[in-house]
Amino acid sequence: MMEKIIVTCALPYANGSLHLGHILEHIQADIWVRYQRMINNEVWFICADDAHGTPIMLKAKKIKSTPEQLIKKIYKEHKTDFKNFNIIHDNYHSTHSSENKKILVKIYNILKKRKLIKKKKTLQFYDIKEKMFLPDRLVIGTCPKCKTKNQYSDNCEICGSTYSYKEIINPKSTISNSIPILKNSIHYFFNLPKFTKMLKNWISSGTLNKNVSNKIIEWFKIGLKKWNISRDAPYFGFKIPKTNKYFYVWLDATIGYISTFKNLCNKKKKINFNEFWNKNTKTKLYHFIGKDIIYFHSLFWIAILEGCKLRKPNKIFIHGHLTINKIKMSKSKKTYIKAKTWLKYFNSDSLRYYFASKLSHKLEDIDLNLIDFKKKINNDIVNKLVNLAYRNLSFINKLYNNKLSKKLDNYDLYKTFVKKSKNILKYFNNCNFSQIIKKIMELTKNANYYIDQKSPWKLIKISKNKNKIHEICTTGINLFKILMTLLKPILPKLSNKIEKLLNTNLILKNIDKPLLNHKIKKPKKLFNRIKKTQIKNLLKK
Ligand code: 2FM
Ligand code: ZN
Repeated sequence: MMEKIIVTCALPYANGSLHLGHILEHIQADIWVRYQRMINNEVWFICADDAHGTPIMLKAKKIKSTPEQLIKKIYKEHKTDFKNFNIIHDNYHSTHSSENKKILVKIYNILKKRKLIKKKKTLQFYDIKEKMFLPDRLVIGTCPKCKTKNQYSDNCEICGSTYSYKEIINPKSTISNSIPILKNSIHYFFNLPKFTKMLKNWISSGTLNKNVSNKIIEWFKIGLKKWNISRDAPYFGFKIPKTNKYFYVWLDATIGYISTFKNLCNKKKKINFNEFWNKNTKTKLYHFIGKDIIYFHSLFWIAILEGCKLRKPNKIFIHGHLTINKIKMSKSKKTYIKAKTWLKYFNSDSLRYYFASKLSHKLEDIDLNLIDFKKKINNDIVNKLVNLAYRNLSFINKLYNNKLSKKLDNYDLYKTFVKKSKNILKYFNNCNFSQIIKKIMELTKNANYYIDQKSPWKLIKISKNKNKIHEICTTGINLFKILMTLLKPILPKLSNKIEKLLNTNLILKNIDKPLLNHKIKKPKKLFNRIKKTQIKNLLKK
């Protein structure tokens, strides 16, 4: 049966360029989405810029601009970057939108009416020099649990624990470098602990992988705390009605999933908003996120949805962080590659392939090793895959006027490939892409071995049987066609070229049927080998 699915990626902050870490997540989701479409599901792939919060406000101030101008500029840049990686969202919106404001206020009012939001006096870090309350991210100090230095005041990137301002050791304001004082302010709190039982059930209901749910169970042991959803001025965000406060960016960010979809529905009238968000919906909702924002998605977000009687996600796919040559990406240390910088030196398919070859459902970090990258692309794509095409295409071109033979030399081999590909396709569903690449490469090796055994380049010298060579090369090209169909979600650019070249659509419906007695196009350059200098030039940057 056809499924109706919403797919989301985490909303990138609108305060800077996209880097390869963002691209990793979006490539993962985009591959998954393309596969779901291949099996005829209706998928709405959405994302938006996360446009509010203090960092955006401060960045705008620093470059002598306004937050509105900044987010407008970044929005354009983000959209272009995604497009250039062949990451195609059905809607890419912004949380600074009328839809988001409307839905946010509506949800707030519902939660308030259900007595899930209460006022409370709180102590908070305050920067006297800058005359502002400091968000958690602008106060750094030592993690109270594992004692790692330079951690944010609310959570530790090293051990993953979350804690309160009272617990962080040696706090320091990163805006002014001064030691912040603690100051009183009234704030609005969402009653997260009230949902503990529901969340425990939800978390163990199969929506998360075991390794993730085990981690969350640890958080329950510490106990859930009420969540502060308000912020003091100055702040860039939406005002909380009837107060002088603003909504905390993380509340309107997650709600951005709903409002981006609403905006899509406004553009495409055939989509029924309520069908997707009603509590008893049969449609599916899948989130792709990094492991650093599990807390927000598996606890806060789920409780908010429950609190206003909306549907919950069916699954959250969580990936590890990206490292480059085993080093964590960091702007200050210059171990950081922007999405658009990458594309100056390499094509998008090569990174999509490399990431796919490393992605599974594990939480481990994913390392982009540039030497390994070059080796993998040149060995797998150029030497094995594309070479399989070339060596057969050249005969079909020279001897047979670009026309495939009427029958295959080895139909059994073709059938074996079809059977194996059906097993391989199953791995797409749980994002086990590394397994897919591994299996496809095994098949590629088998196909090349078959051609090696038959050696059409030798046959041509010793035999007058031109039909035989025709059928061998047609078999090779048809095996290649199966491999490219499997790779289509991963390598959209290359598979598009192949579709034109083979004069056919690489679709699953066609996988059982070999191309026979079929005219194809003249072969041309399909993929460029990666050279050392390209890596050197990238690293210079
Ligand atoms: O961590 C981040 O980059 C956030 N901007 C992600 C938000 S995801 C969702 F909740 F909106
Ligand atoms: Zn820690």
